[in-house]
Amino acid sequence: MSEEVRTSIHGQWSNRMVFILAATGSAVGLGNIWKFPYIAGENGGGAFVIVYLICIAVIGVPIMMAEVMLGRRGRQSPINTMSALAAEEGRPASWALLGWLGVAAGFLILSYYSVIAGWALSYVFRTASGVFEGATADGVSSIFTNFISNPESLLAWHTIFMVATMIIVSRGVKNGIERAVSYLMPTLFVLLIILIFYSMSTGYFFEGLDFLFTPDFSKLTASSVLVAMGHAFFTLSLGMGAIMVYGSYLPKETSIAKSSMMIAVADTLVALLAGMVIFPIAFANNLEPGAGPGLIFQTLPIAFGQMEAGVLIGTLFFVLLVFAAWSSSISLIEPAVAWLVENKGISRVAASVWCGFATWLVGIGSVLSFNLWAKKTWSLSLFGETLFENKTFFDTLDGLTANIMLPMGGLFIAIFAGWLMKSESSKKELNTKEKGYNLWLLLVRVVAPIAVMVVFLNVIGVIK
Ligand code: TRP
Repeated sequence: MSEEVRTSIHGQWSNRMVFILAATGSAVGLGNIWKFPYIAGENGGGAFVIVYLICIAVIGVPIMMAEVMLGRRGRQSPINTMSALAAEEGRPASWALLGWLGVAAGFLILSYYSVIAGWALSYVFRTASGVFEGATADGVSSIFTNFISNPESLLAWHTIFMVATMIIVSRGVKNGIERAVSYLMPTLFVLLIILIFYSMSTGYFFEGLDFLFTPDFSKLTASSVLVAMGHAFFTLSLGMGAIMVYGSYLPKETSIAKSSMMIAVADTLVALLAGMVIFPIAFANNLEPGAGPGLIFQTLPIAFGQMEAGVLIGTLFFVLLVFAAWSSSISLIEPAVAWLVENKGISRVAASVWCGFATWLVGIGSVLSFNLWAKKTWSLSLFGETLFENKTFFDTLDGLTANIMLPMGGLFIAIFAGWLMKSESSKKELNTKEKGYNLWLLLVRVVAPIAVMVVFLNVIGVIK
């Protein structure tokens, strides 16, 4: 490939700031505000949080740099980028499979992500209607339980969210989300700070902090380490080509190292803030931190029901949550859409319709997981060790994608970028100082792959 052809046919970000915003928009989403608190709750808090933070620093950031770098060098959808780079580096063409693994993971994640985003959307209207004003913890919980037991309404909200996502994707990322995220993300941040003041007023703020930050390593099992690692990938949007495809629209001069660090810091802050809001409210109202996927929908409305101007703040909060989910969901499907446009010669609109429809269809399984299929469960064991047991369709998809497909994708990305690509190529593309480059190379060659493999082997019982 000659140097001249290296811009993407899908366009390019206007500048470095826009890339950071888009990638932060992808990273910050339901993962931070909905998922992080409930999995931290289910896995015992502090020790889990520490493992998660370590994974962000030593696995997440270097792999993010690798993904952006591969994307910018390949300048195409992840599948075609991987085949082009494999050819360029004299590696087998089967590296394109890594792109396919990513496309599959993106479909599966978006299918259930959209269902939860639909919950958030419905909570915009529910909060605005004032039903939560003065509601008790029990009242709030029963509103939630009634809501998720109704498949028609979950399906309707899932459908609306999917359509909204595909509209943005079909218009091209640049004209859609790029502008919106620059206002929305900072506002979301401010709202979280306001909510922190409320959670300080509950009298349980320090119990919350204690739960979130005091590690009790006896609660840490092999599977909770896997969940923490999987979540580091999930929350940074890594391992499936989303960040790679965003990297393919990145102007040449931008520093990949600095941008990646900024994205990771912003993402981590939002997750920690969300935890600092949710746990004090949960403890103040005798709610279980391990309540599962309903946690934020059972805690936050209590706060909104008691606060001054709670209807307004609550409504605004769920609006922003929906936007955060929206700017994430487009990145989940962009690799597939870009590939269809590149390889099948169809328009972006047609590609979006097909991808959206397929994702929507799979999402129905997650809709039903909370009601008609609540008792229909799956288990997975590998080499005689159970990876998960009696999980609903929704939980199974989540576990399979976040804990297995993303770390696996990340592992191969690290191996390709660290070992199979000439260091001449990666050095040129990353364009950082010698020291920074060497540190990155060490992390991506040795530390990240070993960490991922150790966690995998531990879970399947090969190492105890
Ligand atoms: N990071 C997003 C969140 O935390 C979700 C997401 C967007 C994602 N794109 C992704 C997860 C790609 C994995 C891979 O909500």
